[in-house]
Amino acid sequence: MRITVRIHAILFPMCILSLIYKYHMSTAPHIIEITAPKFSILGPYNTSRIVVVDNYTQLIDIQNFTFKMNPQPCKDYTADLLLVIIISSSLSNQENRMVIRNTWGQNTDSTKVVFLIGETENVTLAQNITNESFLYKDIVQGNFVDSYRNMTYKHVMGLKWVVHHCPTAKYILKTDDDILVNTRAMTRFLTRELSPWGVKDLIACQLCLITKVHRTKSKWIVTFEEYPFSFYPPFCEGWAVLYSQDVVPRLLKAAQTLPFFWVDDVHITGIIAAQIGVQRTPWSSLVMDEVELTKKWFRPYSAKSLFFGHDLTLEEMMEIWNANSA
Ligand SMILES: *[C@@H]1O[C@H](CO)[C@@H](O)[C@H](O)[C@H]1NC(C)=O
Ligand SMILES: *[C@@H]1O[C@H](CO)[C@@H](O)[C@H](O)[C@H]1NC(C)=O
Ligand SMILES: *[C@@H]1O[C@H](CO)[C@@H](O)[C@H](O)[C@H]1NC(C)=O
Ligand SMILES: *[C@@H]1O[C@H](CO)[C@@H](O)[C@H](O)[C@H]1NC(C)=O
Ligand SMILES: *[C@@H]1O[C@H](CO)[C@@H](O)[C@H](O)[C@H]1NC(C)=O
Ligand SMILES: *[C@@H]1O[C@H](CO)[C@@H](O)[C@H](O)[C@H]1NC(C)=O
Ligand SMILES: *[C@@H]1O[C@H](CO)[C@@H](O)[C@H](O)[C@H]1NC(C)=O
Repeated sequence: MRITVRIHAILFPMCILSLIYKYHMSTAPHIIEITAPKFSILGPYNTSRIVVVDNYTQLIDIQNFTFKMNPQPCKDYTADLLLVIIISSSLSNQENRMVIRNTWGQNTDSTKVVFLIGETENVTLAQNITNESFLYKDIVQGNFVDSYRNMTYKHVMGLKWVVHHCPTAKYILKTDDDILVNTRAMTRFLTRELSPWGVKDLIACQLCLITKVHRTKSKWIVTFEEYPFSFYPPFCEGWAVLYSQDVVPRLLKAAQTLPFFWVDDVHITGIIAAQIGVQRTPWSSLVMDEVELTKKWFRPYSAKSLFFGHDLTLEEMMEIWNANSA
């Protein structure tokens, strides 16, 4: 009798535990056990925040920088904003922004989303953007020309905006407007596998270890004057980079003083990240396998995945989203 009771006392909690485990595994991203993580997990007592003195009117070598549009979605969140998503967007991608607003990029109590853009001389387009900004209040615009070779301004402007206008966010996801982020899985991943109190020294991304510099026939053509070496240092593919709160002001500070280099992911997540001494953590060492990440997109869509693909067309974005949320 006594033995039976004891066995039940053990079996019952085990059963509950295994149910919890099953539920957890069915909804959470598949987590790889992190051996020797390059970042540290914070708890409720780690409340100190890096305060950076940043010249508001300077953006790298632009001495008269201003935010032409400057929404304030984080203003009322002094303590518990989990995630801010900054999305590099092209001026003319109004439709991408609309799809994102209606699918994965909805603002919630824990997540805020803004789009980063530059300026245009096209008056019609500028007026259209002004309208869009008035309607949705989620466009951060800087006074530099929106062009391919100005991407670094856009990325650093995003860091600057976070430091000055959204400093309470525990995590910062930098992404593009042709990506489908699984925001629910991301939130779960951040709060359960990382920490709701944040982490320190985290730059998580798809890491490029050895990349030769393109000197001819490429959209990415770079001259010797711009970058003198044959290979880039390890850097993150820019379509999804997750920063922890402490990393953003440190990157911004360094970016403000280092010479401008236009390939933003190499510059910020390669050169500058190395300079401030933050090791990059590959997504593949945190979640799922690399195949899922590098495939353009895949079926059946997995609720586990943090991203549903990159370089997507609008049709693909809608199709994947609809199939996944049905
Ligand atoms: C977090 O706080 C604990 C307790 O105060 C401390 O021991 C630990 O070093 C802190 N971690 C970081 C990364 O600051
Ligand atoms: C900020 O930078 C601008 C341009 O370099 C400079 O004119 C201004 O004095 C600086 N402001 C502060 C507070 O340092
Ligand atoms: C900022 O400075 C640049 C170059 O010095 C100049 O062309 C531009 O008109 C200035 N912009 C503003 C808003 O003052
Ligand atoms: C200006 O933008 C509008 C709307 O995006 C576009 O239809 C038009 O072709 C553009 N004009 C120029 C001169 O680029
Ligand atoms: C901007 O909105 C105004 C008023 O709603 C409208 O008249 C105008 O046509 C819009 N402009 C563009 C370029 O969409
Ligand atoms: C901006 O232009 C696009 C197409 O060029 C149009 O679909 C959209 O309604 C316009 N938005 C605003 C706010 O005027
Ligand atoms: C941005 O890009 C344009 C065109 O590529 C260039 O003319 C301009 O000088 C760049 N810089 C700024 C600060 O706008």
